Amino acid sequence: MRLTIDDVRSRFKKHLVDAEGSVYASPGRINLIGEHTDYNGGFVFPGAVQQGMIAEIRPNGTRTVRAYSIDLKDYVEFSIDDDKGPNASHFRYIFGVVREMMKLGVPVEGFDTAFAGDVPLGAGMSSSAALESCFAFALNDLFGDNKIDKMTLAKVGQATEHNYLGCKCGIMDQFASVHGKAGYLMRLDCRSGEFEYFPWNPQGYKLVLVNSCVKHELVGSPYNDRRQSCENVVAAIAKRHEGVETLRDCTWEMLEEVKAECSEEDIRRATYAIGETDRVLAVCDALQKGDYETVGQMMYETHAGLSKDYEVSCEELDFLNDIAKDCGVTGSRIMGGGFGGCTINLVEEALYEPFVETVKTKYKEKYGKDPIIIDVVIGDGSRKLA
Ligand code: GLA
Repeated sequence: MRLTIDDVRSRFKKHLVDAEGSVYASPGRINLIGEHTDYNGGFVFPGAVQQGMIAEIRPNGTRTVRAYSIDLKDYVEFSIDDDKGPNASHFRYIFGVVREMMKLGVPVEGFDTAFAGDVPLGAGMSSSAALESCFAFALNDLFGDNKIDKMTLAKVGQATEHNYLGCKCGIMDQFASVHGKAGYLMRLDCRSGEFEYFPWNPQGYKLVLVNSCVKHELVGSPYNDRRQSCENVVAAIAKRHEGVETLRDCTWEMLEEVKAECSEEDIRRATYAIGETDRVLAVCDALQKGDYETVGQMMYETHAGLSKDYEVSCEELDFLNDIAKDCGVTGSRIMGGGFGGCTINLVEEALYEPFVETVKTKYKEKYGKDPIIIDVVIGDGSRKLA
């Protein structure tokens, strides 16, 4: 349930100080297609959602951050000059953002903050990017005269994952959280950093997430191994071809040339990643023509690749994908990093009710738990609320 500004203000007063700070929000994201392509220099096609993170922040004139997590009822204090920072990950995100902003020369000072969110955790909707982006945006506003551009703010969040949480993520999640715009998806070229807004108004279709409620945790997960596999293949190709930096620069012929010297597993993963960049472009073309059948077909192909070649699916997600197929859903696939979380489904309006009913019944029957259905509404990116 989304907290209002007043709810956050009342917790801030109760747990921190009887005064008012500024309030900021940053969203989670969906991704229509383009998974595990960001760190390979490919394309992604995300949009921000309405669910997100909200934080009240007030500079306190010291070098200490005093932070209260409303959802977890947890409190911490840390010095912004400390190198180590707090242990709990929900506070480490804030610590990391503070330190990365300081590295950029933003004269961050101590502050009091209370924060909360309604992005389901571990659902592949980027709750952590929402938190990072919320604080990066806020600190830029409060201490940095808004001098840091949005893409750099997204990179602050990404660097926080790399340097303080140990997850070698790409840029998609933080990019989407910062740049989101209600009613628009964004196609980002992760090699050049260029992006374009695409209106998202599918006549006669709905986007719906089905959360398997298998919690995924990218930190310390095989996510980094997937990235390593791609880098191994790139290293082999780069020995033969100058200028190759990521899989985006690799052709099918180049991949063929190094088959013998890479592991079968690495080759399979690279095969998926190269194909996925083509699928994003195909989806964008199809969308412009209103051809949702092709969009859907690409989504199923992505799921198959993520499941069999990239191996980031799980039994529950494959089961949800099969149900979607059986119900005649236009497109369905794992969304986000994988290993649990949600499927994203492109469903004709007329099929929406029967699909949702079937998914609920069959999933419960098989796994004894209720999947959570989330209707996607594309919302705005990071912003100041009050
Ligand atoms: C996670 C990462 C992103 C991206 C996706 C997979 O969400 O944070 O950078 O790699 O997985 O597409």
